[in-house]
Amino acid sequence: MTSAVYRAHIELDKQAVIAPVRRRTFGSFVEHLGRCVYTGIYEPEHPSANADGFRMDVVELVRELGSTTIRYPGGNFVSGFRWEDSVGPREKRPVRRDLAWHSLESNQVGLDEFARWLKLTDSELMLAVNVATRGILPALDLLEYANHQSGTALSDLRVANGTPDPHNVRMWCLGNEMDGPWQTGFMTAEDYGKTAARTAAAMKMADKDLELVVCGSSGSGMPTFGDWERTVLEYSYDHVDYVSCHAYYQELDGDLGSFLASAVDMDFFIDAVIATADHVGHKKRSPKKINISFDEWNVWYLKEHQESEEVNHEWRHAPRQLEDVYTVADAVVVGNLLMTLLKRSDRVTSASLAQLVNVIAPIMTEPGGPAWRQTTFHPFSITSRLAAGEVVRPVIEAPTYGTARHGEASVIDAVATVDEDRAAVFLVNRDTARTAQVTVDVRSLGPVGVVEALTLADPDVYAKNTLAEQQRVVPHPNPGATVSDGVLTVELPPVSWTAIALGQTSGH
Ligand code: AHR
Repeated sequence: MTSAVYRAHIELDKQAVIAPVRRRTFGSFVEHLGRCVYTGIYEPEHPSANADGFRMDVVELVRELGSTTIRYPGGNFVSGFRWEDSVGPREKRPVRRDLAWHSLESNQVGLDEFARWLKLTDSELMLAVNVATRGILPALDLLEYANHQSGTALSDLRVANGTPDPHNVRMWCLGNEMDGPWQTGFMTAEDYGKTAARTAAAMKMADKDLELVVCGSSGSGMPTFGDWERTVLEYSYDHVDYVSCHAYYQELDGDLGSFLASAVDMDFFIDAVIATADHVGHKKRSPKKINISFDEWNVWYLKEHQESEEVNHEWRHAPRQLEDVYTVADAVVVGNLLMTLLKRSDRVTSASLAQLVNVIAPIMTEPGGPAWRQTTFHPFSITSRLAAGEVVRPVIEAPTYGTARHGEASVIDAVATVDEDRAAVFLVNRDTARTAQVTVDVRSLGPVGVVEALTLADPDVYAKNTLAEQQRVVPHPNPGATVSDGVLTVELPPVSWTAIALGQTSGH
């Protein structure tokens, strides 16, 4: 059965540059939570494990995913974490209770091992410090251990622990979601603003070039949203470089239309945080701009997890928690959220897909068994591979539809990137029933042709990849994508995500 069709048109002007593509937009997140670390990235008994105990099948998938900067070690976990527990001889590391996820932490993976794992994946380390239940000194100690060359107590301890070169960590998060009542040691905006300012100022006394992230709201739905950012930044503006945003989306009450428009909400969130940060900056007559680190974003079936028994009263090591299995619709939303982050590259200069393995993740593993790609893996890896050069704002002429949660939304969303000899166009069709016939005016790019066109869609928008059927959902070539007389023509099936790579042709 063929679906009904509607038309849309996009004007692409390569001069309409928003900002450079920031490689940190393709960041991710590894938290000591559930099976993200243990039996996720680390499983010494696994047939693919290296000498450090890291699963090389997972390393391969992380490389293919194309994630860049990885936030570590939490998340809510960081607010009860003593970093000293996780370095030095493994047999001497203590087992601790993690109150955030009500589980046991063996500390068998810590900073030095994780930094070695990052090298295997070609990723940058972004560290979070515990400002919730610890103080300034432990944060400075961690900074000394991680970044000082040698010749001090803690840098020499790192050397003695087998890591002669400093980790040279540039980005540091000053705690995590400090506005959330669920956070161990949560604070009021005043208390956190003062704590963050003092911690940041002290860390910059050690290294003025650090890039420090102050916690914004845990979500735009928080009752303190807006006031939190304003108050926290009034205290910390001069000492920090980024304010964080966190956003998770899910389909609620069978309302697929609203869910598919989640990117509209993310865009509103970014607008609001920039307005607040700039308001504080203007009041202070500061020449400095605070950018956004969107360091947790994804689809997360939070409501179902909250109603489940998976976080319970037992003290278990690496239990199965937050192991969402993603659908085609989820992948379309993830692809669209990433497009929004790209579109806002002028002020969102770092982002982290939360999380990387097993826990609300693009990569799944089975202990002793395989590792595979979730549906959401594909839009992320393809965008990371194809987006290069500068982000260009397309002008979209398309029908709109009403959503219960996010107001009027365009059925088509798109963004493009343009590099010297190549370009990429990313598109979503949010219509749940109709195919879109889209034309894109690409004359400003000069003579170009289609190099690659991939679409993720399925007649069953709830199809998933599972242990039993790991390749049920994969992107397929979109053979109809062609350029003729400077016009790119492509068909987008209902509920679909598409990437088109364009390359220069001779022009004859
Ligand atoms: O990513 C899962 C959790 O979501 C993180 O630990 C926390 O920061 C957020 O609430």
